[in-house]
Amino acid sequence: MDLTELPFCQACGLHTTRQRVVVGSGPVAPRLMVVGEAPGRHEDEGGEPFIGRSGQLLVRLIHEELGLERAHYFVTNAVKCRPPQNRTPRTSEVATCRPWLEAQIDTLRPTRILAVGNVAARAVFGFSEGISRAHGRLGHYGEVPGVATYHPAAALRAGPNVVDVMRADLRVLRNLGV
Ligand code: URA
Repeated sequence: MDLTELPFCQACGLHTTRQRVVVGSGPVAPRLMVVGEAPGRHEDEGGEPFIGRSGQLLVRLIHEELGLERAHYFVTNAVKCRPPQNRTPRTSEVATCRPWLEAQIDTLRPTRILAVGNVAARAVFGFSEGISRAHGRLGHYGEVPGVATYHPAAALRAGPNVVDVMRADLRVLRNLGV
C-alpha cells in the first residue's frame, strides 16, 4: 500500500459521506502508536484524530500515566473515515481499511501499541472478546506488543470507574517499557 494515496481512498462507501480522510498524526518510529475506532464529527472537520472531548481525556490520561506529550506519539484509527451519525464501523469497513493500518504500523514501526475500544482491539490485536474482557491484556501486532483499553468515549459516558480502569491498563503498558 502506498500511504501517499490514503487521503484519496475510495475503497468503501464511507468516502461518499466523509469530509476528509483522517490519516493520523505523530512522529515516525514513535515509542507509542494509539489506535482508535474511527473519526467523529470534529475529526472529520479538522482532519486530525482524537481532537474532540474523548481525545482530550485520552491525551490527559496518557500524559498522566505514561508521561508522554501528544507530540511524542502517533495517533490514528482502525477506520480512517467518519461513519455517518458516528455509527460503529461495519466489519467490512474495518477489513477494507486494515491494509492502511498495517501499512502505517509497518512503516512507522512503533515500539508499543495502545488500542482503544472494541473495534481497535479486534483490528490491531485480533482479540475476539469484547473490551470488558480484553482490556489490560497483552496483545501483539506482529512483533509489536501492546495493550487494549476502553474507548475514552465510554469513560465520558460511564464516569470515574472506567477512567480508573483505563489508568490501570495504561500502567500495564508503562510496565512494558513505553
Ligand atoms: N473516536 C475515535 O475512536 N477516534 C477519533 O479520532 C475520535 C473519536
